Amino acid sequence: TRVAVVGGGQSCEHEVSLASAAAVAGALDPSAYDVVRLTIGRDGTWRDGDDRPLGLATAVTVLQSCAAVLPVVHGPRGEDGSLAALCELAGVPYVGSGVRAGALAMDKWATKLVAGAVGVATAPGVLLSAADAATYAWTHPVVVKPVAAGSSHGVTLVRDAAALAGALDAALALDDRILVEDLLVGREIDVAVLGTADEGRVVAPALEVVVDGPFDYEAKYGGGADFRVPAALDDVERKALEEAAVAVYDALGCAGVARVDFFLTDAGPVLNEVNTMPGFTEQSQVPRMFAAAGTSYAALLDRLVRDVLP
Ligand code: DAL
Ligand code: MG
Repeated sequence: TRVAVVGGGQSCEHEVSLASAAAVAGALDPSAYDVVRLTIGRDGTWRDGDDRPLGLATAVTVLQSCAAVLPVVHGPRGEDGSLAALCELAGVPYVGSGVRAGALAMDKWATKLVAGAVGVATAPGVLLSAADAATYAWTHPVVVKPVAAGSSHGVTLVRDAAALAGALDAALALDDRILVEDLLVGREIDVAVLGTADEGRVVAPALEVVVDGPFDYEAKYGGGADFRVPAALDDVERKALEEAAVAVYDALGCAGVARVDFFLTDAGPVLNEVNTMPGFTEQSQVPRMFAAAGTSYAALLDRLVRDVLP
């Protein structure tokens, strides 16, 4: 079966996507799959597995020559529904969420509204335009983030008024809408939800991201974070997290695997964000969570692909 693995992309998560895509391509069982590699450059140029540039029309023809596409591109112009849209228009089955879920989940403000509508808490926050940001007055510790970005790019913890201007600039460099949320105190717990054709939704054992200090967004991707899987949770906590994760997955209309990230506070789970194309190296959270449930990396990929084949 011929499958395309697309990596790279034009967002600030380009490098992370290259790592995810290379790992995915390397792990697909070669006795079952003939893997076609495609890479999207930072400038938007598509390239084949030999690094030759392809026009978009040729790239689409390559996608159409495959039985399924694995769009392993994180962030805007990939995970935000763009690649799903391309596959939809090209008529090729693809792994993961469709256009609507990708777009909603990439927009942290829209995600907040949807989560609230199904009774899942998020941090109190406000949406600011660049003009709003100029007059925003800091009163208490907050997290400033671009509405649409990933891998913690442009995210800053603001513990004092002096740090506000730099944080707003960093977020506005990546998006023209920014989100300012109250700083939460809680454990960082990720829950992976997999929609399947035969078993409904499968939830993998939750993972705890343990960082140095209470909130170190850099550590999460800089190698300073430790993953504990399964996370140490009591039954009440686990049930609350799993129910919230599935509720949000369903409300957004996700497909394939999504990683739903929470802060577990004294008041229960508070949704942080949803990744419809989460980091996918073998050491990334989602493969680690499924491995803890006895599903190997190759088996997880195989399941994702098989479920979308005609
Ligand atoms: N956005 C990054 C890739 C993650 O979800 O792990
Ligand atoms: Mg993310």
